[in-house]
Amino acid sequence: MTAASGGRRRKGMGHMSFNVAIDGPAGAGKSTIARAVAKKMNLIYVDTGAMYRAMTLLVLREGADLQDKEKIVGICRGAKITIRYEDGEQVVVLNGENVNGFLRTEEVGNLTSSVVSRIPEVRERMVKLQQELAACSDCIMDGRDIGTCVLPDARLKIYLTASSRVRAMRRYHELLDRGVESDPEKIQKDIEERDYQDMHREISPLRQAEDAVLVDTSEMSVEEVISVISQLCREAGAAP
Ligand code: DC
Repeated sequence: MTAASGGRRRKGMGHMSFNVAIDGPAGAGKSTIARAVAKKMNLIYVDTGAMYRAMTLLVLREGADLQDKEKIVGICRGAKITIRYEDGEQVVVLNGENVNGFLRTEEVGNLTSSVVSRIPEVRERMVKLQQELAACSDCIMDGRDIGTCVLPDARLKIYLTASSRVRAMRRYHELLDRGVESDPEKIQKDIEERDYQDMHREISPLRQAEDAVLVDTSEMSVEEVISVISQLCREAGAAP
């Protein structure tokens, strides 16, 4: 497994990278915000959820019994996963294939949360890959365990959240914009279930690191959040 960061700000040996960790529950807007702040601050954006999702995709493609942890671990051990950057966008390469287009389905999201991301052997591999990426690049990395586990020494840690109602309504409007009707109550229930799974799993549960700045976006616009986090990056020493 390798971390191929072809992006900006690649570091040579002996340089300390500037790393920002963003954690928070599903639907808090982490990826939208992290992507925008990365662009503004000239950092590489690392989406760790996509790495876990890629492992789930492989498990689904192999048709594995989802109760069979040994089998899932075997499949993940045999997988070659790398990350590269194209026009500033992260591409997840699974066994030689760009799988970005297959990662954002409900099925992959739910199984990642309920099965694959709970397996210690899978997490070990992902954490190592993420740490390699962070060691060689100035980056902003989002996930669930970045500030608490992957990058305990990150220069800046942010815990980005919003009420489950607000997150559900944002998702509802996003779907509506794409012409998809949905039930906000059901979306909210799914979000709360995902929160519970992410916060109560045995290994690396989602929680705010002690030294993380809490940003509750329930009453904020996307632009306001980007501006607040960019300012926090500047204060932490980012030089765009
Ligand atoms: O951020 P996301 O929705 O793409 O993440 C999908 C799932 O992956 C999420 O429910 C929990 C898991 N995940 C994790 O356990 N640790 C991370 N660092 C990132 C994601």
